[in-house]
Amino acid sequence: MTITRRNFVRLSTLAMVSLPITRSLSAPLYPRRIKLVLHPEQRNWFPETEIPIDLWGFDHDVLRLRRGETVEIEVENRLTSPSSVHWHGLRIDNQMDGVSGMTQAPILPGERFIYRFTPEDAGTYWAHSHHQSYEQLAKGLYMPLIVEENEPVDVDQDILMAIDDWRVNQQRQLDTNSIGSLHDWSHGGRMGNVFTVNKLIQPAFDVVAGSRVRLRLINTANARIFSILPPTFPAWISAKDGQPLPSPIEHSGQFFIGPAERYDFVLDIPEDAEGTYAFQMPGNPSPLDLAYLRILGSQPKRGDSPPKPFPANALTRFNDTDVTQSIRLEMTGGAMGSLRQAMYQGRLMELNELIQNRQIWAFNGTASRPDEPLLEAKTGDVVEIELINNSRWPHSMHLHGHHFKANSPHYDSSMWHDTLLIAGGESVKIQFQAGKPGSWLLHCHMIEHQAAGMVSWIRVVA
Ligand code: C2O
Ligand code: CU
Repeated sequence: MTITRRNFVRLSTLAMVSLPITRSLSAPLYPRRIKLVLHPEQRNWFPETEIPIDLWGFDHDVLRLRRGETVEIEVENRLTSPSSVHWHGLRIDNQMDGVSGMTQAPILPGERFIYRFTPEDAGTYWAHSHHQSYEQLAKGLYMPLIVEENEPVDVDQDILMAIDDWRVNQQRQLDTNSIGSLHDWSHGGRMGNVFTVNKLIQPAFDVVAGSRVRLRLINTANARIFSILPPTFPAWISAKDGQPLPSPIEHSGQFFIGPAERYDFVLDIPEDAEGTYAFQMPGNPSPLDLAYLRILGSQPKRGDSPPKPFPANALTRFNDTDVTQSIRLEMTGGAMGSLRQAMYQGRLMELNELIQNRQIWAFNGTASRPDEPLLEAKTGDVVEIELINNSRWPHSMHLHGHHFKANSPHYDSSMWHDTLLIAGGESVKIQFQAGKPGSWLLHCHMIEHQAAGMVSWIRVVA
């Protein structure tokens, strides 16, 4: 910047003003201002065609915020469709939750919206469109979001992998004709045939032999449950859905990650590692490589295994006996399901009429967001919901604005979740403390299922 006289005066007054305010180091006077743009973007995934693929996206590859630091994020919509941004997993004020048609009006093309919030929890999150999500997520309108700890975590490197699948047609463009396919909606959702990590095909991440790496994994797919075979290095699960585990759990071999779930691993790269190691997805006839770790150089091995837990966020612990309200949520519908009729938009409909309205799933007999909430709770109350999956399909259930505990056999009981995989026919109890006042969605994050009926909400009052 050239120092004009006006700038100089401003700088010198700022300097003068800031001198006596010693607390400004920890609490800035103004929130950090960030600008984000939603726009069409192109990626060169298929060098042989020379024609890039057209997607949608944010103008940032990743957004890094700091725990406890208030930000003002101005989102500009340069798409031709309305949109909104949901900060998946952040416990922020309800008006900032980004649910179009519920917590805000959509951001129209050419318009802006300012999100202002203070992330309470460090960890791995993501931001994504919450307007016509099944279409906008299929086009790639999402961005990983990292909230940094106040104290740095003791690792040598921080690697992020946002894993996705895309349905691409013969012309090597997104298959947009099939967006909204009722077959996808009534089965397992939209599955892709091209796989990316950070919107790149088979990227390689450079790491040092002997080093300790934090690996953040995010499943950004519309509907696919990824099964991942990591390199066979010593590894620990250190966080789930952003929230640190009180003690990291050693993990080896294949693992599953449902749509919108996140895992933070700590990975120790052996001192004698050499060459390239793949993260694979089991496939037929052979596994598919999603990404690589490429060993560049080496350092003396870190002695301190297992890793220390990441610093805890301020989630309140509670016991079963603190539960003041307990309700059931029965999930029905889908192909091979038993759904015969359901309420939709205030009317009881038979299956064929539901299907005409593109509704195939129901929560407690109601398809799509009902006028009345599933439950109402006071901030601070401990609530239990029994999620009863009376369908043949797995679901990836997400509660906005809260983290919950779950008694699922597939997860360690020390984990907190904002998203949870529930197998077909399974019942899982989740418990959470009602957080900030407002209307919070509870929906399936196999995003075609959400569009086809699997969405309800809870009301929290002060
Ligand atoms: Cu990640 Cu309601 O969404
Ligand atoms: Cu589902």
